Amino acid sequence: MMAHSEVSLQAALDWLKPRLRETPEVALILGSGLGALAESVSAAIEVPVQEIPGYPTPTVSGHAGRLVFGRLEGCRVVVLQGRLHCYEGYPPQTVTLPVRLVHALGARSLIVTNAAGGLNPHFRPGMLMLIADHINAAFRNPLVGQLDDSCLHMRGAPDMAQPYDLSWLAIAEAVALRLGIPIRRGVYLWTLGPSYETKAEIRMYRRMGADAVGMSTVPEVLQARKLGMKVLGISTITNMAAGLHSGPLTHEEVLQVGLQVRNQLERLIRGILYQQSAK
Ligand code: 6GU
Repeated sequence: MMAHSEVSLQAALDWLKPRLRETPEVALILGSGLGALAESVSAAIEVPVQEIPGYPTPTVSGHAGRLVFGRLEGCRVVVLQGRLHCYEGYPPQTVTLPVRLVHALGARSLIVTNAAGGLNPHFRPGMLMLIADHINAAFRNPLVGQLDDSCLHMRGAPDMAQPYDLSWLAIAEAVALRLGIPIRRGVYLWTLGPSYETKAEIRMYRRMGADAVGMSTVPEVLQARKLGMKVLGISTITNMAAGLHSGPLTHEEVLQVGLQVRNQLERLIRGILYQQSAK
């Protein structure tokens, strides 16, 4: 059985493959405020997503998406800028097309970053959180309809007992320690959005065991795990969630925090990739 979405995947693959010098090993999906990392990819081939046949066109105006192929700290990478979200109206299968595409191009590891609201009372804006586990509170799943022959034996239902690679979590912590970057492990909870939470919802999510809340990442991780990819997720706590911060949250505050943490996040990712390339 072929999932409907595979039609556009094949067209994108056929178009992209002859344009690349080498296949990527690590894919990076950058959340808010991490765009600068794509600029420092060396020997880069930049592909605006509008040029890729069948690639979902971004709905949000402003900067368009790009795929940047090249090297970071010696690693063959592809950086995906201009992430797709379910709250924009895309079906979850469309949101994860980029993951299926980079996997088909050869990427076997995925690093995802995002901006998230803090729920853990020990968290502060500007902290980095390694995603140790997640809660799917958006109740959408990109794997619906992906019951392909290759996984008929498990009815297409991949195990999710440990989606986030334990050795990568340990490496990330060791690199952070060496670089003096404070970091915590925590549980990321995915909400559909686009509205933020009420105070009652935040109390509920905290009781459910969430440390941070955001509107992305989980669909990409579900897709990547289905494909057997190694996954690392990093959240930037840009603000505390409803009821946990004093006074209204200002956009300036969030941008300011993003700027402060961007540097740390970039150094952390570079350190992890350096380790990866040394192997
Ligand atoms: Cl407070 N909630 C959600 N759902 N996403 C966020 C956030 C909060 N802060 C940043 N992203």
